[in-house]
Amino acid sequence: MIHDDEPQATRRQAGAGESSRASRGWWDRNADEYQTEHGAFLGDDRFIWGPEGLDEAEAGLLGRSPEGLDVLEIGAGAAQCARWLKARGARPVALDLSHRQLQHALRIGADFPLVEADAGALPFADGSFDLACSAYGALPFVADPVRVMREVHRVLRPGGRWVFSVTHPIRWAFPDEPGPEGLSVAASYFDRTPYVEQDETGRAVYVEHHRTLGDRVREVAAAGFRLVDLVEPEWPEWNTQEWGGWSPLRGHLIPGTAIFVCDRD
Ligand SMILES: C[S@@+](CC[C@H](N)C(=O)[O-])C[C@H]1O[C@@H](n2cnc3c(N)ncnc32)[C@H](O)[C@@H]1O
Repeated sequence: MIHDDEPQATRRQAGAGESSRASRGWWDRNADEYQTEHGAFLGDDRFIWGPEGLDEAEAGLLGRSPEGLDVLEIGAGAAQCARWLKARGARPVALDLSHRQLQHALRIGADFPLVEADAGALPFADGSFDLACSAYGALPFVADPVRVMREVHRVLRPGGRWVFSVTHPIRWAFPDEPGPEGLSVAASYFDRTPYVEQDETGRAVYVEHHRTLGDRVREVAAAGFRLVDLVEPEWPEWNTQEWGGWSPLRGHLIPGTAIFVCDRD
């Protein structure tokens, strides 16, 4: 049964301000459930790139030991990755738009700065960090990803690296379902119209922005980065867990996550 006060899903335009407001509200309302559902899989101090379970300890996408480095985690949620970095001698800063997500970071324990801010306006001086990373943080939810990447470029020092994961763009052509119904193309891969859930007044309460693989490559270049790798993690045998539309069934057939490894020369 559909209740009048349940958000309705649609595809329509959503600008930067509306997307940011929707994300803050949604993550504040849903942080508790997110951490209850996924906290054990993420681990309090592991660095997991996405639902496949690719672990930075094995993947080494940051390219070097984080020891002694200033590292910015964007869309950090409960700052699991920042905790992993801290344990390896880095000086992490964990940034997120959602107050409630950062309260979870405090609950688990954070002996490093937590910053509540929008990734589109990073409150740091130029050249403050050696590394920046984001596991599904911010980028899937922002209307202007180039703005975020230009900000990351600005706060990185020359020689810095920026690594981020997002939903693999091919997933947008399929229904977001973990079972067989999620295996048949149902929409155009090329349709960039945002996915929006809106309340009965038409106000967006959740927004996701789709980009093609080529769009993402051009965003990275437009911000001044050099793309050095694009990693599409394969679904490992040990992972029997479903995470929303990510499942062993689909994971063995089509990629679910894209990780971009970018250098700032
Ligand atoms: C899928 S969660 C990922 C969190 C964490 N990296 C993890 O793997 O659990 C996305 C996070 O991005 C944050 N976020 C969304 N839009 C953002 C924005 N514009 N600026 C900063 N953070 C944002 C959300 O609040 C949320 O904590």
